[in-house]
Amino acid sequence: MLPIIRDLLLSDIGPAVRLLEECRGLPDTKPVDVAQFVNDVSSGAPGVVALEGDRIVGIVQARAVGDDAWINVVMIDPNWRRQGLGSAMLHRLEDKLLHLGVRKISALLSSAQAGETALLNRGFAPTHGLVLYEKLEPLAPISMRIVDQYGGELLSEKLWDSVSGMREEKQIIAGRVVAPLADPETASRVGVKAPATVLLFGPPGTGKTTFAKAIAGRLGWPFIELLPSKLESGDGSMSSELRTAMNDLLQLDHAVVFIDEFDEIASARERNPSTKGVVNELLKMIPAFRSAPGHLLVCATNFVADIDSAVLRPGRFDLVIPIGPPDLSARLAHWQSTLAPLDQRGIDIEKIAKMTEGYTPGDVDLAAQRAAAAAFDRIREGKEPLHITSEDLETAVARTRPSVTAEIRDRFAEEVGRFARV
Ligand SMILES: Nc1ncnc2c1ncn2[C@@H]1O[C@H](COP(=O)(O)OP(=O)(O)O)[C@@H](O)[C@H]1O
Ligand SMILES: [Mg+2]
Repeated sequence: MLPIIRDLLLSDIGPAVRLLEECRGLPDTKPVDVAQFVNDVSSGAPGVVALEGDRIVGIVQARAVGDDAWINVVMIDPNWRRQGLGSAMLHRLEDKLLHLGVRKISALLSSAQAGETALLNRGFAPTHGLVLYEKLEPLAPISMRIVDQYGGELLSEKLWDSVSGMREEKQIIAGRVVAPLADPETASRVGVKAPATVLLFGPPGTGKTTFAKAIAGRLGWPFIELLPSKLESGDGSMSSELRTAMNDLLQLDHAVVFIDEFDEIASARERNPSTKGVVNELLKMIPAFRSAPGHLLVCATNFVADIDSAVLRPGRFDLVIPIGPPDLSARLAHWQSTLAPLDQRGIDIEKIAKMTEGYTPGDVDLAAQRAAAAAFDRIREGKEPLHITSEDLETAVARTRPSVTAEIRDRFAEEVGRFARV
């Protein structure tokens, strides 16, 4: 079983010291000043431990003063070295330090000591001949406070790869959105303007939110979602809340700001007069976004045709990108991951994927659950076969309506022609 990683508690001091003592004198192991460790932890210094059962098999501990932090202890039980434990503990510790307002983390280790790989894996760069490892955190403390205040998060770079299929959409977003923002110098040398505002549209469940997050992950910028419901909750009107939020977020060095269900706040003024102020505020904010490089506003909607045409005009949204229903390879990937834990004897996943055009990942889950329930009932009645079958799946698929019906697909195709701008 993999060790559990959690914060270092005062009650861990005893067992932690035991591990430090056990490892004393081992090769590749930096000696730890145990008295100092006990002192630091007793006075609340941040740390993280790894537990195998109730035994501590890893410790990382730091001391933080203002912007700076020093990692004092990186200790891993010899049986658990070279398995990613150090990186996992450091990841959690860095997160704690970031929230304490730390910007620079240093660690003193000599080369080839336990913990070195973990530091390198976490992006620490050795300085002074592989002795002092340093890492500058991506966000200043003031930025982290703003990100926290709006419930923002730093997302993993791996998110992008977890978006399966959708080759065309990925290509557009990687080439037209991520690349110019990640490398503005090259982009501007050839006259490519990095986008400041992007609208994603398409039927529900097709991955718009997922793409918005994946963009932030790829850029390494914090992702902040502004919820229309939250913007309304303050004392002021929605438009003044929106202005305050945008101004706060523009103070960040970098940010991907996401507004979902964008039609709710930017629906045509005639149709929904109550949104007029918000639409106006938003239109005023867009130039501010444009003049603050390092910021990307991503909005998403299932109903692009409902959006005020003034908002959609070029010069407001740089790119209007359609996100279509999952293609065959996306559906194949969804079916594969859904069925992965099961006995798949005699199941032709490709055939099922072909049968499920218009299925969103949610539909795949629903159909798979229905098939599973049928198999479960059969097995409980004592009948064979004792696993999920092709027939279970096909029957379930026949009963499950695709979210993206022919009608929605046709409407989407028409909207692509009318609104897409990439
Ligand atoms: N291409 C994809 N690859 C993997 N998962 C996807 C993909 N598209 C959608 N999903 C999953 O489907 C669900 C709905 O996607 P979401 O991004 O919320 O859709 P939307 O915002 O367009 O309604 C999420 O759980 C998401 O992880
Ligand atoms: Mg969404």
